[in-house]
Amino acid sequence: MALCAALPNLKMGRAAATMDMVEALAEINRARPAYRLDIGESDVEPPEEVFEALRRVGDAPYGPSEGLPELREALAGLFGVDRDEVVVVAGGRHGVSALMWAFRKARIITTRPYYPGYLEIASAFDIRLDFADTDEGRGWSPQFPRRGVYLVNYPNNPTGAVLDRAKVRELVDVAEFVISDEVYRDIAFVEFESPLKLSPNVAVVYSFSKVFSVPGFRLGAVIAPRDLARLVVKFNRATVNSASSVLQKAVAPLVPEIPRMAARLSEIYRRRVEVAKRALGLKFVEPKGAFYIFPRLGCSGVEFLRRALQRGVSVLPGEAFGSSDHARIALVLPEDRLAAALSALNGTCPSA
Ligand SMILES: Cc1ncc(COP(=O)(O)O)c(C=O)c1O
Repeated sequence: MALCAALPNLKMGRAAATMDMVEALAEINRARPAYRLDIGESDVEPPEEVFEALRRVGDAPYGPSEGLPELREALAGLFGVDRDEVVVVAGGRHGVSALMWAFRKARIITTRPYYPGYLEIASAFDIRLDFADTDEGRGWSPQFPRRGVYLVNYPNNPTGAVLDRAKVRELVDVAEFVISDEVYRDIAFVEFESPLKLSPNVAVVYSFSKVFSVPGFRLGAVIAPRDLARLVVKFNRATVNSASSVLQKAVAPLVPEIPRMAARLSEIYRRRVEVAKRALGLKFVEPKGAFYIFPRLGCSGVEFLRRALQRGVSVLPGEAFGSSDHARIALVLPEDRLAAALSALNGTCPSA
């Protein structure tokens, strides 16, 4: 079918050696495992303040396409930019979509393993994505092969890598422009360096999904130079008109609390990495942020998922992230249940 030919990695039958997210999730839902370590939906409760603030919101008007002034102001303070450089969007994925659409005539380079959402967005807008390889032996350190528009994600999904300052400098020096997907910036176990601090040619994608554990809010922001910010507003008008005004009102007063919440969250996930190091018999590069581990396997990711499901645990196959001999395990259960789930995976498929 012509549609499938245009989406080479996205549609495969059950026996195929590869698998996309949609198929993996369908298989997981059929199996109904006792322990879900697949999608990046945290078990950590949203802060009570978020729901208290929601109860205080009295009306639900259309909002301005660039976002409510109070939320843009608060985010401008958090990122150290002007309010004109902040546009509120309907979640991190919407922000990445707006920026990829703005650069649709360029060839965009992203690192591999990659977040599968980038492929979905690229295919929707007919964008040609190129891949920059990363070196697992050096903490998934990326190579930036040539000048171009880069789309990077640190702390990284699925590897947990965070770039050090020298590497961020290398990136901004080689890039014409950097789209920096920072939806996990609040979950870091080392100091996180944003390219935004090093170059004017950077746009950041931010999201409330992870920091407040509210992925269903579909609320995020793009921080971008003014001309590009105007294109993001245009994309908002064409798609959602504005992100939810109700949710914007609720989260605006909580933005100054983000550094405190981030410290708490980072500590929760740092401890879970320690649990994983003790409980899981597979080798993985220790993550420096986000809430995933990406162990190397002695079998394919698809095979690992099927065997894991037989033991009542779901993971995502590395194939969905462009790496067939890995699996992504999301650390989204409390420590005791996480230890039990990871122990159940031992012997499923040995380390490579
Ligand atoms: C790397 C990356 N970017 C973007 C997103 C999308 O975030 P949101 O829920 O805010 O759309 C995710 C979600 O898991 C992600 O892992």
